[in-house]
Amino acid sequence: MSDVVRILYFFLPAYLGNMSPALVTPWFKGLAVPMDGGRTLGGRRVLGDHKTWRGLLAGIVVGALVFEAQRLADRAGLGRDLALIDYAAHPVLPGALMGLAAGVGDAVKSFFKRRAGIPPGRPWLFFDQLDFLVASYLFVMVVWTPPLLPTLLCVPVILGGHVVVTTLGYWLGLKEAWI
Ligand code: CTP
Ligand code: MG
Repeated sequence: MSDVVRILYFFLPAYLGNMSPALVTPWFKGLAVPMDGGRTLGGRRVLGDHKTWRGLLAGIVVGALVFEAQRLADRAGLGRDLALIDYAAHPVLPGALMGLAAGVGDAVKSFFKRRAGIPPGRPWLFFDQLDFLVASYLFVMVVWTPPLLPTLLCVPVILGGHVVVTTLGYWLGLKEAWI
């Protein structure tokens, strides 16, 4: 089993936590409040309407739940070959940290996107796809430092996965613009 696959498995809570804000949009509408409170900086929104407290919370909850599922699997003897950390010794915190990091990294990215004059929802290639990985790497260092080289080797896998998913979405008519 390659360490790149193990690192991808380790960061699964961050990856799914990162996807979760878009998936919960039909629910919890009362929490769909912009994190920047509508404030502007230099005439542009600080973060924009697409960064809500609901999304940030969804990331934390989903990150924690996915990590707990990995812990349960590990306890049941499943996926032991994939485990890079001792799941029995680390309840919930790494998952919640990765989910929080996905949301914070995403918001920091949006801050710079707005400063660059890119409107909410418009693509910003590489930054949109990799913000969650950079942020969760830094946040999870509180608990454990993932090996750097296999983490860097995940970058082309994540970018390739994005091209595949977005192309499928475009062909299926779920996305208006390719990439
Ligand atoms: N979302 C949210 N709260 C967050 C992050 C995301 O509600 N903190 C929801 C929004 O509905 C958003 C969708 O998830 O439209 C997709 O998120 P993302 O691609 O990260 O945001 P963008 O729409 O691309 O906005 P931005 O340009 O600010 O990145
Ligand atoms: Mg986006």
